[in-house]
Amino acid sequence: MEPAFWLRCWQQDQLGWQLDAVHPLLSQAPVDWLDQRPVFVPLCGKSPDLLFLAQYAAVTGVELSDLACADFFRENGLAVETCEEAGFVRSQAANICLYQGDYFALSPTHVGACQRIYDRAALIALPVSMRQRYVRHLRTLLPQADLLLLSLEYPATEKQGPPFSVPADEIRALFDFASITQLQQRDLTGQGFARRRFDTSVLIETSWRIQWS
Ligand SMILES: C[S@@+](CC[C@H](N)C(=O)[O-])C[C@H]1O[C@@H](n2cnc3c(N)ncnc32)[C@H](O)[C@@H]1O
Repeated sequence: MEPAFWLRCWQQDQLGWQLDAVHPLLSQAPVDWLDQRPVFVPLCGKSPDLLFLAQYAAVTGVELSDLACADFFRENGLAVETCEEAGFVRSQAANICLYQGDYFALSPTHVGACQRIYDRAALIALPVSMRQRYVRHLRTLLPQADLLLLSLEYPATEKQGPPFSVPADEIRALFDFASITQLQQRDLTGQGFARRRFDTSVLIETSWRIQWS
């Protein structure tokens, strides 16, 4: 998707993906994943998951929309310090740092200390033509990492993305350099995804632990 698409979603308050509470597959993450190691959250939006993660470790997010970043700190009553840093607007409150700008322009110096990655609605927000580039850039940013990925699967002919269906075979191919463990599944058929209702005949959300070094 083009940046303009996402910026329009934020301007028009069309946030169908937005959660009102911590994602259940994050709160049930393996205890050794939820430790004190700093976490990188690509395409983070204003997710409540950022606050949950910050209970355990320092969190660094990247998000295209200035509205999303401002809303996150304001809606959570966090006093924030903002500065410009290498082409990004960096906002910091306690142990949460958000870089406002393009994920693909982020460099290892921005996320250097992170050892964990949390991806909810980032990979599945991207069309197939961008997913390999997204994963390649993750690996460039963090040559060693332990990723908790939440994916979504539905019959692709039944709905256009985003969110896109990213089946297990594609995840295994995208991360063929890593060790991959499927953790949990939620059957969302008939329920939809966050604030959106989908009529797909099947809708499955899966959590994966993907580690590389
Ligand atoms: C589907 S939303 C998911 C947000 C968040 N992960 C969540 O779970 O609520 C995708 C987000 O990615 C952001 N985004 C899209 N392309 C981006 C890019 N190239 N760099 C940074 N953020 C981007 C959008 O503005 C949007 O907030």
